[in-house]
Amino acid sequence: MKKALKITGVMLLLVFIAVQFYQPAPNVDKGQVYTTDFTQNYPAMPDEVKTAIRTSCYDCHSNNTNYEWYDYIQPARSLVEKHIKDGKENLNFSEWDTYSGRKQKRLITSIKKQIETKKMPMSSYTLMHKDAKLNDQQIKTLTQWLKEQE
Ligand code: HEC
Repeated sequence: MKKALKITGVMLLLVFIAVQFYQPAPNVDKGQVYTTDFTQNYPAMPDEVKTAIRTSCYDCHSNNTNYEWYDYIQPARSLVEKHIKDGKENLNFSEWDTYSGRKQKRLITSIKKQIETKKMPMSSYTLMHKDAKLNDQQIKTLTQWLKEQE
């Protein structure tokens, strides 16, 4: 019995090591500056708004993710990449100005709603990325600014 447990343990460890070799291409843009970026397309955007959106949303909604060391460990890695892919498909702040006026308008309302209802940034993410969690003051500032853009 003890031996069987040991074998199972070793097998699990080998599987864990094997899956580490699967590392998809990371979502990094090597410092590229986008003229289409969300924060560049509103000249009067306050710094607090810029900083909060960049810190709390850009990891999944832009072409550049600031990975933490643990983001590279499988199976978390695959989950992180899935969030980035789904997040960018819905909303990519790096490519904001390529969206039609109508789409931008819809997204502004959607962003406001996600922040107001605390659905974004996702809680599974803020659990590990504490600095991305928005406090009440930030939520107030963001929703106020977004309301003015509607
Ligand atoms: C951990 C990754 C992650 C972070 C961080 C994150 N999002 Fe998301 N977001 C997603 C994913 C995945 C989806 C699509 C699936 C869903 O709706 O849950 C999404 C969907 C959205 C949508 C819906 C888009 C639409 O078409 O209406 C909005 C708006 C949004 N996010 C805004 C934000 C804002 C604003 C922040 C920062 C305050 C943020 N997100 C942070 C992953 C993330």
